[in-house]
Amino acid sequence: MMPSCSLSAAAPPKLRLSTERLLLRELEESDWPVIHAYASLPEARRYMLAGQGTRDRTRSFVLSSMAAAQANPRIFYAFGIVLRAENRLVGTIVLRAGNADRGAQVGWDVNRAYWNRGIATEAARSVLAFAFADLGVRAVHADSFARNFASIRVMEKLGMQRLTRGWFASMRLAERYGEWRPMIRYVVRPQRHTANVAQAPY
Ligand SMILES: CC(C)(COP(=O)(O)OP(=O)(O)OC[C@H]1O[C@@H](n2cnc3c(N)ncnc32)[C@H](O)[C@@H]1OP(=O)(O)O)[C@@H](O)C(=O)NCCC(=O)NCCS
Repeated sequence: MMPSCSLSAAAPPKLRLSTERLLLRELEESDWPVIHAYASLPEARRYMLAGQGTRDRTRSFVLSSMAAAQANPRIFYAFGIVLRAENRLVGTIVLRAGNADRGAQVGWDVNRAYWNRGIATEAARSVLAFAFADLGVRAVHADSFARNFASIRVMEKLGMQRLTRGWFASMRLAERYGEWRPMIRYVVRPQRHTANVAQAPY
């Protein structure tokens, strides 16, 4: 089943993306304690950027995402990933799409209790479809620590291709984030995304 996107009638419009198992909806203030409960665990923080995963950072992430949803033009989209069968928020996925020509960036996290069920991949496919079809971006990239094999596997399942080659390039990318561990960038363009969805819908 292809992801679908709809705008509710209420103002300001709230974005909702649907997939087979998931509802991606805009974040609400009451979400931050739920996110903090899983994002603060050591396993989850292992591959987060320095400073992420604290109570204050998670709260401010949710509040600033809500503010960004009001911006015009809008460049930042943060969705709560809701597992519909349980009506539970199990992760978040963000898209920064400042300039259609320059491309967009995507990032994700999922509650440890729900890892390896294809949730990040399913959510990301939907967000990529939104970025390409609704926002008209030409490419979407994702950055990850080079040893975050679960995240890298998600990128591969999305049909993304590795851009960063070699240790120096990985360290230069890490430096942009103020990090010392090597990082790598993957990218996908619309044609490859479409072919990937056709091959492996979910
Ligand atoms: C990265 C993350 C979002 C993936 O979420 P998820 O819902 O488990 O992802 P999916 O189930 O769609 O895919 C995970 C894939 O990684 C694989 N994987 C998991 N751990 C792995 C490891 N150590 N080595 C290799 N592959 C691994 C899984 O087997 C699965 O692949 P498969 O479907 O081919 O079996 C989740 O691990 C997470 O929240 N991590 C902490 C936060 C984080 O790192 N965010 C990303 C920052 S770039």
